[in-house]
Amino acid sequence: MPTGHITLLTTGGTIAGRGAHAGNASDYVAGSMSATDLLTALGHPDDLPRIETQELLSIDSKDMTPEHWLMIARAVEAARASASCQGVVITHGTDTLEETAWFLHLVCSPGKPVVLTAAMRPATALSADGPMNLYQALCVAALPEARGHGVLVVMNDQILAASDIVKTHTHALDAIAAPRMGTIGDASERTFCRPPALGSAGCVPLATLQDGATLPEVDILHVAAGSRPALLAEAHERGCAGVILALPGNGSLPDTWRDAALAAVDNGVRVIRSSRVANGSVSTRAAAILPGSGVLNPLQARIALMLELATGTSGLFERLAAGHG
Ligand code: SIN
Repeated sequence: MPTGHITLLTTGGTIAGRGAHAGNASDYVAGSMSATDLLTALGHPDDLPRIETQELLSIDSKDMTPEHWLMIARAVEAARASASCQGVVITHGTDTLEETAWFLHLVCSPGKPVVLTAAMRPATALSADGPMNLYQALCVAALPEARGHGVLVVMNDQILAASDIVKTHTHALDAIAAPRMGTIGDASERTFCRPPALGSAGCVPLATLQDGATLPEVDILHVAAGSRPALLAEAHERGCAGVILALPGNGSLPDTWRDAALAAVDNGVRVIRSSRVANGSVSTRAAAILPGSGVLNPLQARIALMLELATGTSGLFERLAAGHG
């Protein structure tokens, strides 16, 4: 067994959810179990290293905010700074897991493993998936081979790269998936089948975000047939520094939105064309009146733009949209 310890940071989610009926996996309160409760449910497997716990939050991840992302990232880096820490596991809700995972991917350098895990069924449900997910996440975080792989997600027997994941289903156990890129390893075998693409990992070192720094407001507007272009002016009036448009098709801006988009840009708002389509990229070529989000989906584009605006790192969004760091 390896020496050292794994730090377990808990934030809540269904993995720590408690409900009244074991047969009902949808009626429960997320984030209602302690770190000790979560570890007790694992029994005492003899292949786990020592675990140190820190309870950061006890929330449903729908209530996660950019301030929470910064707090989690700082806790990760503080834990990894300890010489005896081999890696960090974070329990989280699945609802906004992809956002926290992408944020951590961008601000945490690849190095000691950082592994997020979650569950689709509350801890009190029949066949709860949380204990196995947590056990596998702890095992993966302790693997020397997991070092340098950037931020990882372990769920449902899979090892996934944090930059690849999306939530694809409202209740299925394999809801967290990487439909475009696939898995990078097998969590039950504790093996990797390929290295993740790490061009953008840690490209915004946390130190560039001062203590007390906040991330600027960037909204996502989901543009449906006939949506009002006035939504853009309203976003500007609310103080948004940027707006990601989740547009139809290949980021196609409706003609009725053209003037509102140009006016928002004139007012200093960064307006990005992204797509509401689940797969495929949005052209970053200059022909369109607004820059495209490239390989980034709207949620990823929002975080990339927030970080560019917060740190003043010129060209960061463009590089991430092009798939680089
Ligand atoms: C949450 O995201 O906190 C609730 C849902 C889940 O974890 O699956």
